Amino acid sequence: MRTLRFLALAAALAAGGAHAQAKDKAPIDAGPYVPSPQSVVADMLKIADVGPRDFVIDLGSGDGRIVLTAATVFGASGFGVEIKDNLVKESNEAARLQGVADRVKFITADLFKTDISKATVLTMYLLPNTVNMLKDKLLAELRPGTKILSHDYPLSGWIPERYVQMDLEDKIAISGVTTTLIYLYLVPAKVAPAYTAAMPAAVSKEPVRISLRQQLTRVSGTVRVGGRDLSVEEGKLRGERLSFRLGLGGKSYQFSGTVKGDAIVEGTVAGPGTKGTWTAAALAK
Ligand SMILES: C[S@@+](CC[C@H](N)C(=O)[O-])C[C@H]1O[C@@H](n2cnc3c(N)ncnc32)[C@H](O)[C@@H]1O
Repeated sequence: MRTLRFLALAAALAAGGAHAQAKDKAPIDAGPYVPSPQSVVADMLKIADVGPRDFVIDLGSGDGRIVLTAATVFGASGFGVEIKDNLVKESNEAARLQGVADRVKFITADLFKTDISKATVLTMYLLPNTVNMLKDKLLAELRPGTKILSHDYPLSGWIPERYVQMDLEDKIAISGVTTTLIYLYLVPAKVAPAYTAAMPAAVSKEPVRISLRQQLTRVSGTVRVGGRDLSVEEGKLRGERLSFRLGLGGKSYQFSGTVKGDAIVEGTVAGPGTKGTWTAAALAK
């Protein structure tokens, strides 16, 4: 009886605890403090071609080395967000000592709740599940064309623009293996489900309807030409740049264009004996 009462009390306390936690949720632990080896930091920033016009944000900035290197070596600005206050203090002090405090800062905050929309380059070295928990936030907040670099862990289902693999002795102490990976992703623009497009006469004399489905950087769909739906082949988005191929009358045409808001501009089409331009406007749903 005593045991039962004890169990009931324990259950009630646990329920109370869960309730309190739900009300005042502690930040998700995105990974322990393990600094990226300095050579990986340099490689990440080189792969992203970071320069003075970039604004670099490091999610879970540790001792600040990525943002500090971006500022001191590559001339960029930016900020790091870190949950551990002592590391934030250390990073801000380093920024002051290195003479870059006017361009970079470090804040104590939960990375999941930080506005990242200013980034032109976003870096992270976080646990694999965390990286994937961030996918929706990255797609919602970052502008098309923003570069995302992830040390070691990929964003599942998202085809990287580039990835680099190397062996580093420094990594044995961190992960038990020498294998090191750096993934570079480009945030894709969002295409509308349907457009009306003006094409060169060789493709169509009438406006054509383009119907598209997007899955991150991949695009599929159809282009309706002369009453026939032609399949969009090899459709992809690299930032704002959309490209696809279309087979028409036994010929293959290569299309590309820039997705800007509700329009596709700067469109070019090339095929046998044809070179032309096209534009498209999104159709209301
Ligand atoms: C693996 S370290 C990476 C440090 C640094 N980015 C680097 O590459 O050298 C991950 C960092 O994320 C921080 N972190 C974990 N969860 C966090 C959260 N919810 N918000 C902000 N920082 C967090 C940890 O304290 C740790 O310093």
